[in-house]
Amino acid sequence: MTQDLSPIEKAKLVASKRAVDFVESGMKVGLGTGSTAAWMVRCLGERVHREGLRIKGVPTSSRTADLAREVGIEVISLDEAKWLDLTIDGTDEFDPELNLIKGGGGAHLWEKIVATASDRMVVIADVSKQVEALGAFPLPVEVIPFGWQTTKALIEETLESLDVLGRECVLRGDHGAPFRTDEGNFIIDLHLKRIANPRRFSLVINQIPGVVENGLFIDICDAVVIGHGDGRVEVRDASSGEIEEGRIEIGDGDNLFTDISD
Ligand code: A5P
Repeated sequence: MTQDLSPIEKAKLVASKRAVDFVESGMKVGLGTGSTAAWMVRCLGERVHREGLRIKGVPTSSRTADLAREVGIEVISLDEAKWLDLTIDGTDEFDPELNLIKGGGGAHLWEKIVATASDRMVVIADVSKQVEALGAFPLPVEVIPFGWQTTKALIEETLESLDVLGRECVLRGDHGAPFRTDEGNFIIDLHLKRIANPRRFSLVINQIPGVVENGLFIDICDAVVIGHGDGRVEVRDASSGEIEEGRIEIGDGDNLFTDISD
């Protein structure tokens, strides 16, 4: 029941409800991953049921694919879609230029491929994701399992020449084993505290053999929809800098929503 939601979940829900207004019938839509994106997928499913919205969704993870099918969204692969009208996804951090850190859920490789193959990427977030400089959230770097310890050592060596405040690198675990992405790869989380030049950082780290992709999204996000626990939403446009403010009422009709954990 929506009235039982915590303020943070309400913030994610109202951001999602505003963001799915950007979706029109006939669109091919990239579906993000994470607890905020899960709300968005449910909101889209609701529009499919209530309005007969015709869309094809390209999920950014196997768990989003499962949820999309569950709520009645037609799922296709990126290769079937070839190009997308819009991707809506969550984030772990966004800065004033709307550059992002993503991958807290381990899906940033597929997320970056899907967002880059879209005319537009809209990010949905609660206000806690807003930062002045990226890097407080550990930066996920996807690496192939072969020689991962060597790759980690090369990342650590490379960090010595980069302008960051922290340099601890940790293999992500999952119940005593390494966490595996949808591609079967590992993730090394980089505790950088502050990244002075995210654009340069991303280019340099991706040069290391064994690194598949890092979680920095530079110049990919076109707009961010920020939700607040009291129903307020702001839409910030990356290119114009314009901010639209509004409010989303959560009504009885939203009772199909239950608290979503990812
Ligand atoms: C998934 O790998 C991530 O990129 C998520 O989009 C990001 O971590 C945001 O997740 P939450 O909405 O759960 O905070």
